[in-house]
Amino acid sequence: MTDIFDFSTFPTLTGKGVVLREFQPEDAADLFVWRSDPEVQRYNSEPMWDVRQASQLIEELRAEYAARKGIHWAVTLSGDGRAVGLFGFVSWQRFHHRAEVGYDLRRDYWGRGIASEALGAILRFGFTTMQLNRVEAQTIADNHGSVRLLQRVGFQREGLRRAYSLEDDGTYHDGAIYGLLRRDYDSAGHEV
Ligand SMILES: CC(C)(COP(=O)(O)OP(=O)(O)OC[C@H]1O[C@@H](n2cnc3c(N)ncnc32)[C@H](O)[C@@H]1OP(=O)(O)O)[C@@H](O)C(=O)NCCC(=O)NCCS
Repeated sequence: MTDIFDFSTFPTLTGKGVVLREFQPEDAADLFVWRSDPEVQRYNSEPMWDVRQASQLIEELRAEYAARKGIHWAVTLSGDGRAVGLFGFVSWQRFHHRAEVGYDLRRDYWGRGIASEALGAILRFGFTTMQLNRVEAQTIADNHGSVRLLQRVGFQREGLRRAYSLEDDGTYHDGAIYGLLRRDYDSAGHEV
């Protein structure tokens, strides 16, 4: 089967101070650090309670790549191989040249620009190698860290889903939909 790129070699990406590489089974303990952190998982899935869940997730991410359905990278800092974040594309619709981004980062690495660099790196890859025309993101509207990240790299808010999810505080929170089009990305002067 011919595909957009050669899936036989996992694409390692770089940004300022970051290297994004394939998750390996040995990353389970590191992944568990932030996936078990209730603060990181506050607007996401239930925090993990067993490192075996992290191993299982890594297996799933690797299987998804092998099936050519999605790509997820382990974010590491240059010169330090440890995984500190998970960034990737899901819901990849090749016909429509569209995919959705998902991301999370270990809490003690927030506020350093690592997520902006990592998202910038995968967007470059998405708009060039994956030939995407549109990248989407869904986030809880009051997830300020996530909203700031999306705005910083050029996403526009396209819609609001009122009372979209029931959160830990027992109330319903709005969900926001963001989009970034290839033409906006290009006209913002990103080097591709
Ligand atoms: C969303 C998330 C990845 C954003 O991480 P982050 O650390 O805030 O994002 P960045 O790495 O881009 O860092 C930006 C912050 O670092 C600061 N910063 C410091 N050095 C910087 C640099 N060199 N470049 C850019 N920003 C820098 C910025 O001023 C900014 O601070 P601010 O948030 O007070 O405005 C993180 O909050 C997270 O993991 N949240 C939990 C998971 C989650 O909600 N995922 C989304 C589900 S939809």
